[in-house]
Amino acid sequence: MLEDQDYPKSIQFEVQTGQFRPLLDHTVRRLQDMAGMFADQVAVKRELERGGRVIYEFDSHPFKTSHSDMVLGVTRINPGKVGDEFFMTKGHIHERDDQPEIYHCVQGEGYLLLQTMGGEFQAERWTPGTISHIPPMWAHRVVNTGDRLLIFLAVFHLSAGHDYRPIEEKGFRKRVIERNGQVIFIPDNRWT
Ligand SMILES: [Fe+2]
Repeated sequence: MLEDQDYPKSIQFEVQTGQFRPLLDHTVRRLQDMAGMFADQVAVKRELERGGRVIYEFDSHPFKTSHSDMVLGVTRINPGKVGDEFFMTKGHIHERDDQPEIYHCVQGEGYLLLQTMGGEFQAERWTPGTISHIPPMWAHRVVNTGDRLLIFLAVFHLSAGHDYRPIEEKGFRKRVIERNGQVIFIPDNRWT
């Protein structure tokens, strides 16, 4: 006997704006929510005195049935920098060690940063249409290096869980900054 939630279901994704219809769950991350993650703390303080900009927004749509817990997420990262460091997501690793994820860059350009708990690092260049598979136990963060909104879709299991602490404590091995008009990677000194 099927329960109500066990029937197929569809929602709409507005490609231009990166919005779901209907919108169920909406999260806004401002600079004050991730102030310690940017290297230039003088620039952070200056920005916060002006109120702090929205770095990114995240909407999620769970598809829970009697026996599954798939989630569709969309993230919109604003263009911008704090000092010379590009706007980015907080980054997390999944709480469960058997949970991968698929990311799909819909609009914009940037990088997907990936890192194992042992410190192995990889960066995937993103342009519209890039789809990346994130294997289990790789932390992930997306950086917007372009001059427009970066929009990406995420597909994962709700039960994967989000652990932000390893990234809050030690970050990723590399930061993505602009220098002389170029996008470059520099080491995070917490790893050297
Ligand atoms: Fe994830």
